[in-house]
Amino acid sequence: MKIQSVDAYQIFDSRGNPTVECVITGASGVTGVGRVPSGASTGQYEALELRDEDPLRFGGRSVTNAIEHINGEIAAAMIGSDMRNQEALDARLIELDGSQNKSRLGANTVLAVSLAAADAASKATGRALYEYLGNGQGSLLPLPEIQIIGGGAHAHWRVDIQDFLLVVMNAVSYEDSLKVTYDIYQKAGDLLVQQGRAMGVADEGGYWPLFETNTAVLDFLVDAIDAAGYVAGRDCMISLDFAASDLYDGECYRFRVPDGRFTSDEFIDLVTDWCHRYPIISIEDPLADSDWTGWTRLSGRLHDRVQIVGDDLFTTNPQRIHKGLENNAANAVLIKPNQIGTVTETIAAIELTKRNGWLPIVSARSGETEDTFIAHLAVATNAGQIKVGSFARGERMAKWNELIRIGRALGNRARFEGARIYDRILHR
Ligand code: PGA
Ligand code: ZN
Repeated sequence: MKIQSVDAYQIFDSRGNPTVECVITGASGVTGVGRVPSGASTGQYEALELRDEDPLRFGGRSVTNAIEHINGEIAAAMIGSDMRNQEALDARLIELDGSQNKSRLGANTVLAVSLAAADAASKATGRALYEYLGNGQGSLLPLPEIQIIGGGAHAHWRVDIQDFLLVVMNAVSYEDSLKVTYDIYQKAGDLLVQQGRAMGVADEGGYWPLFETNTAVLDFLVDAIDAAGYVAGRDCMISLDFAASDLYDGECYRFRVPDGRFTSDEFIDLVTDWCHRYPIISIEDPLADSDWTGWTRLSGRLHDRVQIVGDDLFTTNPQRIHKGLENNAANAVLIKPNQIGTVTETIAAIELTKRNGWLPIVSARSGETEDTFIAHLAVATNAGQIKVGSFARGERMAKWNELIRIGRALGNRARFEGARIYDRILHR
């Protein structure tokens, strides 16, 4: 199963920005494809996303250099290698790059190749991608976190919080969680029209918020859940991504709606207060990626009550997850392959998280493609949770739909723990 050719070219993501697609072809003619997503609220500790930075081409965002790296030195190194040895291929990519954070070749460059190799190898071995990646051990369909309203960097800062998401607590199956989400997403849309707040959708397909305060959105979400015929706090709960690194100026956290500045301690009080006043089950990046003492303090207060997720804090990087474990900084880790750059390192981050009793959540980016790798990754690793954005738009639905297909392919091997996944970290 030798790699015969590697071909990369520029495609476009869901925001219309350039990104990398790579096709790997094996000697038997089998092909695999990798497509790379891109963030907007990118963490400072993520592996580097290589862009051409030429202001005259695609606003500096073209990826010609990444493509030249793939079609040149990476292809030369990969051709003739066994596509079935993902760890060796990824180790070679890391070695070729030679930097700490993929800054020479770019994490987007390296990931396109790593994803394409996995896809090609799964086809060459006649196995579905989730079976190949998980070595036949993956069977858990994930509990979705689905965005209803977008904000922050994804909606021109109309409100401060980046993601207002729904978790269907009493779903009996993956499909059931989608049905409830559909009801609430549709009802929220109707209510926004009735209230004169309908403004279209933000980057991940959630409604673009026309609200004066962040808590007004929380109140609205509770109303939408109730109006759709479900009980907030019992059937459904709210998950928030504060993306707080974007709110932090190095000293204080800043809200725009309404205008406010908070020290780390004051912001922890605010987050704690919201968690007591609203049916919140999960908080992501409630503090900045440099505020380690704040994270430890917040976790001390809330760790057995809500899921506390590090995204920018950990950047899918095993070294940073280790530091989080040592500092009792969280109890869950957001997993984004392009934050670290290879399939092998992504799986290592998931395994490290699970081994230590924390929960991984496999996640898309705000700039996505039709690629469905993360749906397979979530099942392959029995991660238990997935976050893909909202319940609208093709690049989001591609992932939700792929999980339906994987569930069908698994047949009676498919498992779904739903919100029981939280029993591993929370006292409920
Ligand atoms: P990003 O947002 O892809 O723009 O970083 C997603 C997230 O913060 O979870
Ligand atoms: Zn996030």
